[in-house]
Amino acid sequence: MDQILEDKVAIITGGSSGMGRAGVELFAEAGCQSIIADINEKEGNNIKKSLMEKNLKADFFYTDVTNSKNVQETVKEVANKYGKIDILFHNAVDVPLVNNHDKRITELSDEIWNKITTLVLDGAFYCSKYVGKQMLKQKSGSIILTATTDALIGQAGIDAYTAAKGGIVSMTRSMAAGLSPEGIRVNTICPGFVETPHQMKFLNDPKVRKQLEDIHLMGISKPKDIAEFALFLASDKSRLMTGGIHVVDAGYTSFKGKLELFDQISS
Ligand SMILES: NC(=O)c1ccc[n+]([C@@H]2O[C@H](COP(=O)([O-])OP(=O)(O)OC[C@H]3O[C@@H](n4cnc5c(N)ncnc54)[C@H](O)[C@@H]3O)[C@@H](O)[C@H]2O)c1
Repeated sequence: MDQILEDKVAIITGGSSGMGRAGVELFAEAGCQSIIADINEKEGNNIKKSLMEKNLKADFFYTDVTNSKNVQETVKEVANKYGKIDILFHNAVDVPLVNNHDKRITELSDEIWNKITTLVLDGAFYCSKYVGKQMLKQKSGSIILTATTDALIGQAGIDAYTAAKGGIVSMTRSMAAGLSPEGIRVNTICPGFVETPHQMKFLNDPKVRKQLEDIHLMGISKPKDIAEFALFLASDKSRLMTGGIHVVDAGYTSFKGKLELFDQISS
């Protein structure tokens, strides 16, 4: 594989599963020192071990992205151990919390609103803030955040998640405006539905799978499809790209559903 991340150091939050894990693996294959920052220690260490057995560079740091101090410590320890941080790929989210507890605004409890917005928005804030401070010292870096197509078009029943991910979308532009003159790029990826472990409960239901396939013109993405784009954003190949909201959704947001309207008119 092209070593486009040779000598780079990346922190990948949520690196123990899903898109984060795909990023950890792909970045390492591209020559990067991949740092898994996650609360799932067991899986994170398994991934680290399996990559190191292939002579790839991986490390694990227990990091709860909702804990400002913990994020600060991870950033400090990674910078001390590896000398710099070139890339942040921020994915960490408690997907079951969102899938099982987020609600329409009128049914949403204050407690769940606070939990989800803390996890999604505060998590992105802490990670961007502390990694950003390190990158400012270096005058270089690429921050890649993960939002969702739900932050761009409405999906009923997930109002806390949508609000928090919408915050990430807005903050991407202002962060880029503030940081890019000093060499730090900030971009956000908005994936459509992705075949990650927790989403299998939906995809294993044939009726739901069919609905999801119908609205994703080119099929359901795999975690690696998203990681491939993150790899590009992480690398110097995208050196002039900053402040971008990048939709990677197999066409989901590009059309309004399969209407038979015009078929009826022409018949
Ligand atoms: N899967 C999808 O369909 C989809 C679609 C659009 C956007 N997203 C977004 O993509 C990102 C990755 O999602 P995924 O489906 O790959 O998730 P996943 O559940 O496969 O992985 C999430 C990881 O985050 C970790 N995590 C949870 N809470 C944490 C915390 N407080 N601190 C640190 N780590 C924590 C988990 O341990 C897990 O390893 C998320 O931001 C999600 O909102 C997912």
